[in-house]
Amino acid sequence: MGASSGIGLACLQEFVSRGWRVLACVRQPAALNAALAQFPPAHRVECVSLDVSCGDSIRRAAGTAMDWISEASAAVGIVNAIGVGAVKPVELTSSDDYHDLFQVNVFGPMAFIQALMPSLRKQGGRIVHVGSTSGRIASPLTGNYAATKATLDALVACQRLELAGSNIHVTLLEPGVVNTPFWDKLKAQQQHLLPALRADGLERYERLLGRRDSGNPPSGSSPAQVARQVAALLATRVPRRRYAFGKDAYRKLALQRLLPDRWFEWLQMRRLG
Ligand SMILES: NC(=O)c1ccc[n+]([C@@H]2O[C@H](COP(=O)([O-])OP(=O)(O)OC[C@H]3O[C@@H](n4cnc5c(N)ncnc54)[C@H](OP(=O)(O)O)[C@@H]3O)[C@@H](O)[C@H]2O)c1
Repeated sequence: MGASSGIGLACLQEFVSRGWRVLACVRQPAALNAALAQFPPAHRVECVSLDVSCGDSIRRAAGTAMDWISEASAAVGIVNAIGVGAVKPVELTSSDDYHDLFQVNVFGPMAFIQALMPSLRKQGGRIVHVGSTSGRIASPLTGNYAATKATLDALVACQRLELAGSNIHVTLLEPGVVNTPFWDKLKAQQQHLLPALRADGLERYERLLGRRDSGNPPSGSSPAQVARQVAALLATRVPRRRYAFGKDAYRKLALQRLLPDRWFEWLQMRRLG
């Protein structure tokens, strides 16, 4: 899922290079044709349209995916690499904002996977969700996004216990910064937000946003590195609950574990990371 761009597209490329059969779920299959043209002629990629903000699209895509799974001769892997970022102070985040983001980052992908569970039970499989270190370390102005990733973390933890001893393994990958179009999309949101923050009493958020804006664009792992890790997880016999990924992720999570909360918050405000 989310095979049109960034981590999802890199996963598609990685899986094809390993000779795996892939069903790529994308909002607009036509947009993937250019990427598919780069693959060897004998690639085994099929595409299905999936927009997780639309119930009908989820149902149609799940029907296609179930047929596809029923023809699989080996265990099936599902990768959830769908996600959008969000930047807005908690004070200004409306219930519609929460609902829209949770629909794409949590409810929609979960509904799609839920629909596939009967087929997965027969075939056995692995589910890898691309979460984020933000699910454990929330930064200022990205509370809504962090909340979706924390929710994903909780759902993975719970589902692993519910499925313990079965032939379905669920795991969470928590990358730090990955160099994908995700960041340009976030930057565009920041620019829209700025005028709204020029109102009375909201200057502190404008300052926070300004500090985010004036920082260097984050640089981190390449999507191809993340994709190799996803492929490794799909091939791991019994994957762990979660895997952090990227030097910045290891560093942040270690600091959070070692430092008292106040010190860690001070560091976060200093770096706004
Ligand atoms: N980049 C990072 O630094 C980073 C770090 C940690 C975690 N992550 C997580 O990694 C995952 C992939 O992000 P990315 O960096 O690869 O970003 P990306 O390049 O922006 O890819 C996001 C993917 O989500 C898809 N998507 C968005 N809304 C959708 C919808 N309504 N229905 C179906 N698909 C939809 C996009 O499809 P369209 O092309 O059609 O929009 C795209 O394929 C996300 O969950 C993100 O939170 C990213």
